[in-house]
Formats: sequence, C-alpha cells, structure tokens
Amino acid sequence: AGLDAAGGQAAALPAAPPKAAEPLTIIYASESGNCEALAGSVAKLAKKSGFKPKVVDFADLDVATLTDSKNLIAIAATWGEGEPPARATRAYNELMGDGAPRLDGVTFGVLALGDTSYVEFCAIGKALDARFEALGGKRGAERADLDLDFDKPAADWIKNTLKALAPAPSADNVVAVDFAGRAAAEDDDAEPSREPVVVEVVDHINLNSSLSDKETIHLALEFEDGAPAYEPGDSLEIYPENDPALVEDILKATNLTGDEALRKALLSERDITTLSATTVERFAKATGHAEAQKLIDSGELRAWIEGRHLIDLIETFPATLSAEHLNTITRPLPPRAYSIASSRKEVGDEVHLVIAAVRYETHGRSRSGVTSVQVADRIKNGSKLRVKLKPNRHFRLPQDPATDIIMVGPGTGVAPFRAFVQERRAIEATGRSWLFFGDRQFTHDFLYQLEWQEALEDGSLTKIDVAFSRDQPEKIYLQDRIRHHAKEVVEWLDGGASFYVCGDANRMAKDVRNAVVQAYAEVKSLSETDAEAAVAALERAHRYQQDVY
Ligand code: 2AM
Repeated sequence: AGLDAAGGQAAALPAAPPKAAEPLTIIYASESGNCEALAGSVAKLAKKSGFKPKVVDFADLDVATLTDSKNLIAIAATWGEGEPPARATRAYNELMGDGAPRLDGVTFGVLALGDTSYVEFCAIGKALDARFEALGGKRGAERADLDLDFDKPAADWIKNTLKALAPAPSADNVVAVDFAGRAAAEDDDAEPSREPVVVEVVDHINLNSSLSDKETIHLALEFEDGAPAYEPGDSLEIYPENDPALVEDILKATNLTGDEALRKALLSERDITTLSATTVERFAKATGHAEAQKLIDSGELRAWIEGRHLIDLIETFPATLSAEHLNTITRPLPPRAYSIASSRKEVGDEVHLVIAAVRYETHGRSRSGVTSVQVADRIKNGSKLRVKLKPNRHFRLPQDPATDIIMVGPGTGVAPFRAFVQERRAIEATGRSWLFFGDRQFTHDFLYQLEWQEALEDGSLTKIDVAFSRDQPEKIYLQDRIRHHAKEVVEWLDGGASFYVCGDANRMAKDVRNAVVQAYAEVKSLSETDAEAAVAALERAHRYQQDVY
C-alpha cells in the first residue's frame, strides 16, 4: 500500500478524534536531527493508530512528567564516546540520578541510534532501556540498536512498537491501520529537500598556505535548479566516493578484480573504511575463518578494531570471499554532513562548504577521511557531487537582528559563522557580532582572513579574537581568549547576546562551555553551581547553541 492507500485509511476515520485516544509520550535525544525527525514520524503514525501523542525534546523535558501517560517511547542518539547529545545531557542525568520518577504502570519502548564505527554503540539507548525497566516500567517492545543506515529498520521498529503498545483491538478507539503499509519514516509530507541532487563544483580553493600541515578546502557548489531553501546554521550532506586505490586493494586481496559491479558498489555504495564488531562477526560467519573466530571469542575484538579498517581484516585473515559476502558484511556508505558556510542572500544559488582533509596513519597504513580526501584530491572545478540539505533548527541566528551574537569556531568550525556574518550583512542587522577563531598558525591557517578584515571594516563583524595554538611554545586555545575577555563576554550575554559554538564535540565544545561557566563565576562572584546554572539557563533559552561533531 502506498501513499494513497494510507490516505484512504485516514479518510475512513471518524471525524472527531476518539475521546479515549490513548496518550503516548515520545521523547527524543537528538544531536543532528535524526532522532527528532523519527520522533515526528512516530507521532504521525501514532495519531493514525488511535494514540494521542506528545513529542518532547530531552532539552525541554521535565522528567517528572514521564508518568503522565501510560505509554512512553524514547528515541535516543549516542554521541562521540558513548555520550548523550549535548542538549539532552541535563534531562538524561536527571533520569539516571536519584530524582527520576517511578515508572510503574508505564509501558515503554526504546529506539537507539548510533554508529557502529564507535565502540560505545548505542550506549545511551541501551542505558535508557535498562533504566526505564529499573524504574518499574514495563518493556512493551524490544529495543532496536540502529546504525547510520537506520531509515528502513527504524520504520519497521516504529510500526511494530506502536502495534505492541496499541490498545486491545476490541477497544473502539483503535482504528484499522495498515501497519504493513508505507514505512513511517518515508511518510507523506516529505520535505522537498529529501532527495539528493547533483551539483557542480564552481570553486575549489585550499585556504591554508602551501607551508601548512593542514589542507582546508573552500568548496563552492552550484545548484542548477536553484539552491534549496537553506538557512544559516543548516548543513549539507555529501554522498562521497571511496578512494579508488583502496577499492583496488580490497579487490586484489579478495581476488575479485574482475568484478565490475562489485568495483562500482565498493566505490560508491559500501562503507569500506570503518570496521565494526558486526562486520568482523559477519566476516567470520561467512568465511568460517577460525582465526577470526578466535579473535571474537578472545574478548580482544574491540581493542583490535581500534584504528583498523576493512582492508586490515581481509589482509589479516585471508579467506575466499564472494562479492555478495563483501556486500553483506559492510554497511551502506553514509553521507557526510558539513555546516554550510554561506548565506543565500550573498551567494544566490550556491552553497559554500569548508572541508579539512583528514589524513593519518594507523597500524602501518595511511588512512584518509572518505569525503574530505575525495574533496581535497579528486574533486576540482567542474566536478559533480551528490548532495542533500540537512536542516538544523537548533543552530539559528537570533530572530531579532538587533541581538548581539558571540561565535566560537576553531578550524572548520568557523563555517556557519561565515554564513551568519554574510546573512547579517545582507539584512543590515544592527546587533553586534564577535568571532573567536582558532587554528594552528597565523601565517598558514587563518581561514578567510581577508573576509573577516572586510567584515570588520563594513561593520558586519564587530570584534574578532584569535588563538593560534602552535605559534608559541605553549598551546593557546580560543577558550583562553574567552577567559581573557571574561568580563566583556558576560556583559554581552547579560545584554541579551546569543552564544554559538561550532566544531569538535569531544574536547573543544566542553572546554569552551567550561570557560563560559568560569567567566560567570569570576565576573559575578558566583559559586560553581550557580555559574553552571546561569549557562544552563542560557541553553534552555536557546541562547547557547552548539553545532558540534
Ligand atoms: P592544536 O591542533 O594545535 O592542538 C583547529 O583545529 C584548532 O583547534 C587548532 O589550533 C587546534 O589546536 C585547536 N584545538 C585542539 N584542541 C582544542 C580544544 N580542546 N579546545 C580548543 N581548541 C582546540
């Protein structure tokens, strides 16, 4: 059954929602928006199945209200090294702590999203699932732990879970729903931006000097049929191609060099760099390789995987593999999202991105970031790329252009702030803007230096403070600059400024947040707890926003 059939079902509903519609609370912990979108899909399908759904972001969640309805669905992402998304941290900690409510009489289901290339796969979803049970809740549906290719399994989980939670079929508030119909995540009012489109590269510039150890590419992409309606703060996903040399290595190692269809799949469809426990387990099963099985049984698998890729697996455990094996042991190649560095008001039908080439060596082999090195080495003016807009409504300029903004973005983290400054120049915003930028060396790595100078001259940028970490013996980071300007930063924030951080989630974003907490403590002579509360209040008011990865 497709769209029309689903519509037909809906048309058969009674005009007024049934009085006894079963309440369902859907909570989501989202970083990049995937869990948020899924929560929306659940709500939509739930409504059609006789529920009265309420969707709540962990960021706004009062944990005491979890007992309000008998049904609870949690959709949670795991971030970095097994952490909740930044905005979800407060409510998550409350749920895990002494303040959590009892959930007796609540039936719950947990959908966990994660990335198998990280060790703590789906840790947050797993923890919530266990916690709800410990609090007295009844597990109404088994948890699903999903990797980056979650679309289809998430849709399946949603319909199965709603079916499991649904009131008994005899109750008159239950309407016939075509659970087997169109997947929820692919439901009707899909955004126009959902399908990838092909764009042309019209600018490709290395922003670092030739003497830098870094290579950061400014990429301008042209949309032939008009750029999607993106806002400053949004991201663009690139559908990458793997390194052809690595594809050849894999084909050689498996004696499959003659297989053209496989070559094509390995180039653009399968994830052939990261390695997960699942991949190793599937490999051992498919090949019956005794040594690989020994590694799995030894409990050393996680440690072994660290820094290794598919090619290491194949070379370490030589085995006869078929093309089908390779296709089934790998996961689909996921797109990579980059924060957009331009405003449509300034660049029209283009989108600009800033992408740093990722190159490193592990276990005696040089490795490269799939998308970033494709962009750096194999893309040039005139090349085509497949892309898709990824909106981010949690990283937005203040509605009032008179509001001051403070922007913190080291390295490629500066991308959205170039978009912010372009936008605020175009709309002649009167609010002040202050940029903290950091990178390794002033002479080689000052991304968009001339543009910032122009922006300072025309007033679209009020202040810039920079930290070049490797220009002196001791490291200087932009949080040091924030601490140095603590008084003024707090003055701006007290005056209503919004604070933005973009870049590394693991260390930088936390260090910066600590610096702001410390600034409050110092400037206002607050206790650590009160200073922390001041920053938490900014977050709740959406005046402290992060776009981190
Ligand atoms: P480093 O590489 O010299 O340590 C952009 O990558 C810039 O961010 C670099 O100057 C890098 O410094 C810096 N950086 C690394 N870790 C950081 C952290 N925890 N906080 C802020 N900046 C950091």
